[in-house]
Amino acid sequence: MKTSIVLYCRPGFEKECGAEIQEKAAWNEIYGYLEIVKKQGLVFFHLHNAEDGETLMSKLPLKRLIFVRQWFVTLTEKIELPDYNRVEAIVEALGSDWQYADLRMETPDTNDGKALTKFCRKLAVPLRQALRKQKILTEQGDDDGAVLHALFLSGKEVILGFSLGTNTSQHVMGIPRLKFPSQAPSRSTLKLDEAFLYFVPKKDWESRLTSGLNAVDLGAAPGGWTYQLVRRGMMVSSVDNGPMAESLMETGQVKHYQIDGFKFKPAKQNVYWLVCDMVEKPHRVAYLMTDWLLHGFCKEAMFNLKLPMKGRYQQVQKDLQMIKDRFAEHDVRYEMYAKHLYYDREEITVHARLLSPAPLAR
Ligand SMILES: C[S@@+](CC[C@H](N)C(=O)[O-])C[C@H]1O[C@@H](n2cnc3c(N)ncnc32)[C@H](O)[C@@H]1O
Repeated sequence: MKTSIVLYCRPGFEKECGAEIQEKAAWNEIYGYLEIVKKQGLVFFHLHNAEDGETLMSKLPLKRLIFVRQWFVTLTEKIELPDYNRVEAIVEALGSDWQYADLRMETPDTNDGKALTKFCRKLAVPLRQALRKQKILTEQGDDDGAVLHALFLSGKEVILGFSLGTNTSQHVMGIPRLKFPSQAPSRSTLKLDEAFLYFVPKKDWESRLTSGLNAVDLGAAPGGWTYQLVRRGMMVSSVDNGPMAESLMETGQVKHYQIDGFKFKPAKQNVYWLVCDMVEKPHRVAYLMTDWLLHGFCKEAMFNLKLPMKGRYQQVQKDLQMIKDRFAEHDVRYEMYAKHLYYDREEITVHARLLSPAPLAR
């Protein structure tokens, strides 16, 4: 049987997702060929060696993949389900050799896929029961246990697979469902909300996302990102020529600077967060963010890099490499992750912070 890694990404970004897995698998001396399901947000990486699936998953952190939301290693090829006894057909296909800590019912991220969600929810109840009965599903809340994935391509076709509990997204298909806060001035607010959720571990929220911290928001208008900082009790310098929402200005936590984000510098070195959603050339933004970190103008930076129309993966690699090179030049220790988040569109989100003192601080 052919073993593949199935990767989920935003529909329209299958090429980037495929290029990325092929490159990063090759770094681990793992090879295969791609099957891209255009506009469905699905990529199949068919492996030359069946055992490589689990090896790659244990070596390559999902967090290191930019365009991949979620992934699993296949246990079966596509199974044609009968009209009746679907549960039995799935249990039988699985065999009883392995145990799983959780079950994820998934579909492509398309309108057809969405229409299947109700079907999946209904089927999940008897399927879970049957898997529990066979002791295939343990549901012991064990983070280390394997996760069972059932990807429904239609009501009659499913692919089964697994991911490792320590290297998987906690969300079905890697998609967190966030509620749009009615007081927020723009939908962009969800991008920063998701970014904090994704990049900052919950155990650190009390120190890194807490009230009293100072933040700078470059390209802030009308204030969706500023809203996320204000709601966490921070004091925000919002930089944009455009107007900020009155509701935010009334909080008393926001100072609005109508100047160019590339020229703004904080008066004191007491800024914790720098966030930036300026619609600007990505290499300019990447350079600016690195400057702020190296000068110690902020402790952590969260920013969007807008993607070009063509060569998106190459451009992202180039911009991130420039940041890494500058950090390396100054011999600093740092943490940097980039992700095409669910609420991102033609952009990716990057989080970076230095883990050693800022070398150019005054
Ligand atoms: C996508 S919008 C930001 C939306 C905002 N994050 C929110 O959540 O409401 C991009 C903003 O970047 C601003 N912008 C673009 N270039 C800028 C620059 N050089 N300096 C300051 N702001 C800039 C634009 O005026 C625009 O308001």
